[in-house]
Amino acid sequence: MTTNTIQPRRILVTGGCGYVGSALLPHLLRLGHHVRAIDLILYSDAGVKSLKASPEFEQWQNRFELVVGDLRHEETMREALRGCDTVIHLAAISNDPTGELDEALTRQVNFDAIGMMLALAKEAGVTRFINASSSSVFGIKNVPDVTEELEAEPLTFYSKYKALSEWLVVAAASREFCAVNIRPATICGYSPRQRFDLTVNKLTADAVRKGVITVHGGQQRRPNVGMSDAINLYAILTQTDPALINGQTFNFGFENHTVLAIAQLIQAELKDLNVSIKVTDTNDHRDYHISSAKLIKYLGYKPVSSIAMEVANLRRALDGGQFPDIDASEHYNMKCMKLARDNGTYRFLSRPPSHV
Ligand SMILES: NC(=O)c1ccc[n+]([C@@H]2O[C@H](COP(=O)([O-])OP(=O)(O)OC[C@H]3O[C@@H](n4cnc5c(N)ncnc54)[C@H](O)[C@@H]3O)[C@@H](O)[C@H]2O)c1
Repeated sequence: MTTNTIQPRRILVTGGCGYVGSALLPHLLRLGHHVRAIDLILYSDAGVKSLKASPEFEQWQNRFELVVGDLRHEETMREALRGCDTVIHLAAISNDPTGELDEALTRQVNFDAIGMMLALAKEAGVTRFINASSSSVFGIKNVPDVTEELEAEPLTFYSKYKALSEWLVVAAASREFCAVNIRPATICGYSPRQRFDLTVNKLTADAVRKGVITVHGGQQRRPNVGMSDAINLYAILTQTDPALINGQTFNFGFENHTVLAIAQLIQAELKDLNVSIKVTDTNDHRDYHISSAKLIKYLGYKPVSSIAMEVANLRRALDGGQFPDIDASEHYNMKCMKLARDNGTYRFLSRPPSHV
């Protein structure tokens, strides 16, 4: 996408300080959009710090705002949506283990809040809503091509409320309100707010810093998609003809390798480091794969990255001294949620939204 063909939008990015959000914000600003982010900053403010430290920030700052707040809070959301024409909804309790900690919390954030947000977005004059769902909604399917025509069979609270929220989004679609669900595979690669609780990122960090990759089992497939593709697709969707996407749901992931194959790919990409692979037993034989043929066929989407490219990008960041402690809790959502729970913040999060 070149900047001169882009219609500048006024975009609210929920979860803008998360792993994807922190890479997406500078991308959208570089493309000329006005960007407001809302986030409760549950894990780390590294993304927004990095944005503000960017040499380009001076030219972006009058197009950027950050709201630190809870998307379950009606007045906060009403304010956050004011003046926006587009929403990219990323905020979530964002993986299976954290989703299991407290079903009520997961439901509130990953489902209830979306219903409220869709209503408030329409009221505010938003015309496009892009919802980050997840390919995990499928559960485990023993068919060769896991396409969007198959039923969601979620296995966890996280994927259950992601699946249910997709229905809200589809139901909200209308001629005036273009609403679309994207189901990313596991995203891999560098972000200023780095997650190492995702397979490729964890294996890459261990390879670079410890010289050893530990693979549990290894024969389970895990679909992945690069961060460069994630931010590229979200930006494209702000521009796409609504007729192509309105009321639609798209799988999004192009590489369905086994975990062992991913480890070998990383080993090959980092061959100068002589990384060894240790295979251990596992009881977790969940095997996932998805087909993104619909995205390629209907939107003509062409992937811009690969696992290998994302591994190389992440290695550059690690070699450059970023993320000095790859085991720090800020890189693992589950560790953060457990800490927050111990500190009492978690109880605040579990409360129903209050109204002012
Ligand atoms: N990262 C992946 O591999 C992946 C794969 C598939 C789908 N997704 C989806 O993409 C989205 C972004 O994922 P991510 O990896 O950036 O997640 P993340 O956990 O890094 O970011 C989520 C952000 O949402 C914020 N948040 C959570 N609850 C909130 C609330 N009540 N109010 C305001 N902010 C709140 C958190 O503070 C965090 O910054 C999520 O919806 C996730 O489910 C991610």
